[in-house]
Amino acid sequence: MTYDAIVIGGGAAGLFCAIIAGRRGKRVLVVEHNNQPGRKILISGGGRCNFTNLQTSAENFVSENPHFAKSALAAYTPQDFVEFVRDHRIEFYEKKLGQLFCRESARSIVEMLLLECDRAKVTVQTNCSVASVERDGAGFGIETNLGRFETKKLVIATGGLSFPKVGATDFGYRIARQFGLKIVPTRPALVPLAVAGNSGFSKLAGVAVDAAVSIGKTRFRENILFTHHGLSGPAILQISNYWKRGTPVTIDLLPDLNALELLQDSPNPNQLLANVLAAVLPKRVAEMSAARWNKPLAQLNPKERSAIADSLNRWSVDFERTEGYHRAEVTAGGVSTSELSSKTLEARNVPGLFFIGEVVDVTGWLGGYNFQWAWSSGFACGQAV
Ligand code: FDA
Repeated sequence: MTYDAIVIGGGAAGLFCAIIAGRRGKRVLVVEHNNQPGRKILISGGGRCNFTNLQTSAENFVSENPHFAKSALAAYTPQDFVEFVRDHRIEFYEKKLGQLFCRESARSIVEMLLLECDRAKVTVQTNCSVASVERDGAGFGIETNLGRFETKKLVIATGGLSFPKVGATDFGYRIARQFGLKIVPTRPALVPLAVAGNSGFSKLAGVAVDAAVSIGKTRFRENILFTHHGLSGPAILQISNYWKRGTPVTIDLLPDLNALELLQDSPNPNQLLANVLAAVLPKRVAEMSAARWNKPLAQLNPKERSAIADSLNRWSVDFERTEGYHRAEVTAGGVSTSELSSKTLEARNVPGLFFIGEVVDVTGWLGGYNFQWAWSSGFACGQAV
């Protein structure tokens, strides 16, 4: 069986790429090893799929080459995908900061993609596992549990390592290595961060605080959430894209207040520190922050005040690890952008071989950016295969 293009991986990027190629009259096969395509889409955005972000730009992505995503993002924009969703009469809403979610269910996105695959005469083969891939003349041969298929162009859209329970594998990286492509070391991203040992975080598990979280100049202002092992919440997930072991994370628990002024200018200097802090922080966080110095404000010396202010406005946390791929929304790192054309996603040194979506070293922030990368990279490739 010979195809113009075989896409391995029936997720967001793979299905979208197949639609674009199929619409151009190409004979396309999508190979998916799960018993249904798009399983990650179904669980995304709490079941409502944050399918794009209206404010997407290359700055919302982490990659060794921060410019790489520009071309594909410009060729297929969030507005283009919104049009696509509108054409299918899928209702959506903007939750915050340009983040668009389905009003009903993520299922409607998968149904839309499968309907469009059908219209574009794309064959989607589920329960199909690829055993091996080899060069076959100018094209490729793939051996699967359902037999051998041949293709002129091969697209790897198998995603990253995150969420193995919905079918994530290292397949894409293995194929990249087989063909001699460089891989930027992978790591869990958009993931909760954990501290070493029993450092008291678990006592606050479940408490959320509006905070500003930063590494160097990269800063996110959103909630943090205490967990049994460390911290989670949107601001922590965002900063996890930039975190590496040994890099302290600075957390401002009072981003709208100068803590030193709060302590110095309090109208009631006889108040206990914990009570002063309880007016501006959740009670349990106030108690934790005041634990070492819980006396009336008037009894705090300047050195103590300054140490307290630092612990509130510049709390430095040395995380030990992330909570791993089983809790990570995405995988950072992946097939090096230096190996790929930014216009087509084709491997520079392996004509006919393409990598799209999360398997590539382009990792979006939280907020719909990763799906937009899947659509944009899928579009760029779908036009080129
Ligand atoms: P994706 O992982 O979607 O698809 C890869 C496909 O390849 C899978 O179907 C897999 O089964 C298949 N596959 C893997 N190995 C294979 C093999 N050897 N043979 C055949 N098939 C194989 N992003 C966002 O923008 N908004 C959001 O709301 C969310 N929410 C979210 C929630 C959760 C819980 C997670 C885990 C992730 C998100 N994301 C997200 C991230 C988003 O889901 C992710 O970036 C995209 O799905 C990536 O699309 P891809 O098509 O590249 O990979």
